Amino acid sequence: MTANYILAIDQGTTSSRAIVFDDSLKPLATGQEEFEQIFPHSGWVEHNPEEIWSTTVAMCHEAIEKQHLSPRDIAAIGVTNQRETTIVWDKNTGRAVYNAIVWQDRRTSDYCEQLRIAGHSEEIRQKTGLLIDPYFSATKVHWILENVDGVRERAENGDLLFGTVDCYLIWRLTGGKVHATDATNAARTMLYNINVGCWDQDLLSLFGIPHSMMPEVKNCSDDFGVTRDDLFGGVGIPIRGVAGDQQAATVGQACFQPGMVKSTYGTGCFVLLNTGDKPVLSNNRLLTTIAYQLDGKPTYALEGSIFIAGAVVQWLRDGLKMIRTAAETTPLAEAADETENVYFVPAFTGLGAPYWDAECRGAIFGLTRNTGPEEIAKAALESVGFQTRDLIEAMNDDWGAKEQTVLRIDGGMANSAYAMQALANQLQAPVDRPEVTETTALGAAYLAGLAVGLCGRPEEFAQSWALEHQFEPNVEPALADEKYAGWQLAVKRLLFKG
Ligand code: G3P
Repeated sequence: MTANYILAIDQGTTSSRAIVFDDSLKPLATGQEEFEQIFPHSGWVEHNPEEIWSTTVAMCHEAIEKQHLSPRDIAAIGVTNQRETTIVWDKNTGRAVYNAIVWQDRRTSDYCEQLRIAGHSEEIRQKTGLLIDPYFSATKVHWILENVDGVRERAENGDLLFGTVDCYLIWRLTGGKVHATDATNAARTMLYNINVGCWDQDLLSLFGIPHSMMPEVKNCSDDFGVTRDDLFGGVGIPIRGVAGDQQAATVGQACFQPGMVKSTYGTGCFVLLNTGDKPVLSNNRLLTTIAYQLDGKPTYALEGSIFIAGAVVQWLRDGLKMIRTAAETTPLAEAADETENVYFVPAFTGLGAPYWDAECRGAIFGLTRNTGPEEIAKAALESVGFQTRDLIEAMNDDWGAKEQTVLRIDGGMANSAYAMQALANQLQAPVDRPEVTETTALGAAYLAGLAVGLCGRPEEFAQSWALEHQFEPNVEPALADEKYAGWQLAVKRLLFKG
């Protein structure tokens, strides 16, 4: 019997998922489990690494069993993950020295300010493509080394390892045999030189991080070892694909040509534009990152990261308790009074690209005595389109609008026709939703399948991308621009007031 299924692990910010794909990359069975979000202080966000691990393994078993398969049927595992989230653990015991510090965590914002004042911005931008921000791993590792008792000494003795979530999972899946990550995850640490493809010794010194803590950096489709025997009933499953979740979605959306753009709407929204084999530095505060790396060759991307997209609907439900289910948002928004000009800037954890203000917080502007849940729901859904337009305008400026070919959308909120129509209207361009919207897991499965010979080269995979729906703009450009001007004014007011 030949193993011809692929298991994709998608370890996200709010849940761990595993999806079984067949060799034509059709998703067959999914296991998904949410885990605890830990908020020890305002602006701090942590996860328990043991829970990341236990939910991931449990979901792998669940997906395999749901499809009535045995681990022997799995040809390879592909891993994709919430990026930047930082774990430091002891290589002798496997125990993390502190909780995982999540990408959303802002505890190092003062330290970031000190680094900016000390004049490190340009060096970091040139080497890593990133702006100094608590978002990335470097200042989080520094915080752990400085603030957890005894940890610096253990790190300097060579006992501690650092990893993003992919790396931690691989280390545990292989029973501590492999300490490796891929180039896309490395590119999010603010410690990796994306031009030459290695950990940057000057940056490691700046953050006081011993080189011995750092993982080996591999291609996205590569040999990441084999799962330890006792995990899957005596069967060692090869791990062959790894990419950060937004990069995996870029692969899953087959954005292999320069100029192709994908936008994923999960908790946040992440827009990646393929810029080909050369890194493009942004003049508009976008990030330069690695989209994927195959056969030692990186393909670069410009990235715009918005911290709150789908989470705005979650807040209407869980924070404001205005709705009971996310689906109630659309009929509410449709019933809104069109003459009300309400703007919702969902800066719950500060604003990401292109503003990068870690300290500002959300606000709703334009409230009148007539404003009700309908207008707030509409403003919440529209905020996603406005924020995406902020990013696309910045990308157009950096890259040239005419060369952009496609915007492909995915993630939970891509299913909101109202939000996606508002997006197409703002962009005054078509927005394409594919048949398979599980693009993150699909990308990871493809990378693993490519390594074990179950899947063809990218050109071949790109042929299988199929359009499910195209949203065409249905308002005049002048109206879209007028609304956008209102959004820009709202953001300006928020940033000005702080
Ligand atoms: O950069 C953060 C991103 O990778 C998180 O994605 O989908 O887990 O919210 P998600």
